[in-house]
Amino acid sequence: MRVSDTADLWWKNAVLYCLDVETYMDWDDDGTGDFPGLVQRLDHLVDLGVTCLWLMPFYPTAERDDGYDITDFYGVDPRLGTHGDLVELVRTAHDRGLRVIADLVVNHTSDQHPWFKESRRSKDSPKRDWYVWRSDTPPDTSDQVVFPDQEDSIWELDERTGEYYLHQFYKTQPDLDVTNPLVRDEIAKIVGFWTQLGLDGFRMDAVPFLLDTSGAEADRLPDPHAWMRDVRSFLDRRTNGGILLGEVNLPFEQQLEFFGGTDGDELTMQFDFISMQATYLSLARQDAGPLTRALTGRPVTSPDSQWATFVRNHDELTLDKLTEDERQEVFAAFGPDPAMQIYDRGLIRRLPPMLGGDPRRVRMVYSLMFSLPGTPTIFYGEEIGMGEQLEVGSRLAVRTPMQWTSGTNGGFSRAKAAKLPGPVVTGGYGPEFVNVADQRKDPDSLLSFFRRLISRRKECPELGWGEFQVLEQPHAAVLAHLCSWDDGALVALHNLGPEPAVVPLALDGCGAEHLLADLLVEGTTALDEHGRADVPLEGYGYRWLRVVAPGTRRLL
Ligand code: NOJ
Repeated sequence: MRVSDTADLWWKNAVLYCLDVETYMDWDDDGTGDFPGLVQRLDHLVDLGVTCLWLMPFYPTAERDDGYDITDFYGVDPRLGTHGDLVELVRTAHDRGLRVIADLVVNHTSDQHPWFKESRRSKDSPKRDWYVWRSDTPPDTSDQVVFPDQEDSIWELDERTGEYYLHQFYKTQPDLDVTNPLVRDEIAKIVGFWTQLGLDGFRMDAVPFLLDTSGAEADRLPDPHAWMRDVRSFLDRRTNGGILLGEVNLPFEQQLEFFGGTDGDELTMQFDFISMQATYLSLARQDAGPLTRALTGRPVTSPDSQWATFVRNHDELTLDKLTEDERQEVFAAFGPDPAMQIYDRGLIRRLPPMLGGDPRRVRMVYSLMFSLPGTPTIFYGEEIGMGEQLEVGSRLAVRTPMQWTSGTNGGFSRAKAAKLPGPVVTGGYGPEFVNVADQRKDPDSLLSFFRRLISRRKECPELGWGEFQVLEQPHAAVLAHLCSWDDGALVALHNLGPEPAVVPLALDGCGAEHLLADLLVEGTTALDEHGRADVPLEGYGYRWLRVVAPGTRRLL
């Protein structure tokens, strides 16, 4: 392996940052964030060190699912800007060395999309079979709905033709039928269109639902994974290293199929929902066991495939892959009030309030995330420790306006508060106390900590590429892991509990000629002739230790 490989398979050593243009920065003061505002803030992202932006849906929408209900796949929501503004953003981002990907939401359209309007007009409509219809009464599917607070079936009767259409999500989001070759051609065209405008790939929404053809004419597409391979190779042909980052919240064995097995010819990356959920269980128990079991349970993938690690995203913090008892443990620790919970499976909180604002724990968790094998993915506002606005009472509680300054509306917009997409966070996590402008100037702020983490993370390709190994040691609250790649090796220590610990390390192949160099603070630790050292760790402490071989030419 050569360092230049990290430029080819760039996603393996990337730092992703997800944002919604609508809530990021409003430049024309109409209350809605926009592309010109985002362009103004690109330098914040460059300064932070992220390498790839993920734009949440920016397409025209009926606004029934915060943009995930699209009415024109080739358009730009006029409230956010124009195609010209998007191209200016992509161009400027590329100039700054940032790649840009966007949500590709093709499992469904809005019911206001012209295709669906045409489809529902009559059973003979030319667009009828772009969606999934059935004439018989559907069975009870109440246990399959994704949003149980709103829906009780995945089929909806359409009065006009007396047939039912499939909608895995809200009834306002009819599912497209990908067994129809015309639909598949159209999806390829959408991918081609945005990549031609400069996008570097997509975050693919709801992939298992997209590939589930059971309610449709499945014999028209016997192997949906073959189609996924087609989409990937089409993207490969049209771009220089474009990626598909898939949302696949399934057990690991099934996720492997969506990577294309060890051939790695389907999704380039997938979010690691399993390890994310295990992280919260580990934090609640102050026991690294659940996380260790999750990480060591990851299947073997192609060297080109990659996991995206995260502690929070734009949706509910789903805990659906935990057992009922485990979920209740996490609820009790981090969201005991029913107002903090949603769909009986998740929390609508951000990390710092869940950890009682304890800066040691918050930093330890981000240090952990950035040290895990995979590509770290940040949700906007995490870098300054934003909280949630619980009164919103839905997943939107964490999609509040970005907090730039301590001024009105957190510097997001100069419009009246009533015109904003949602309320700004109030209370101790409000802009008065949590904002970019103040933290930029403070070398001890969370933002400065993120900068340091990201810069260190980028210099340690062993984290994104390397062999991962959990190191045996006696403290249940501590995760000690080693990532090694090529001639580099890094030990990361994280203490999930409040009690200080001394971690005995024994590193194979090392001796007294090696030493351990701290990467997040100044300091070195000697190893004895057997490669052993006792490393102290504070309560909720974290350390990244580069294994320094004699004569190494790597900069420390
Ligand atoms: C997953 C997205 O993350 C979520 O926000 C959305 O509601 C559903 N897919 C439906 O598109």
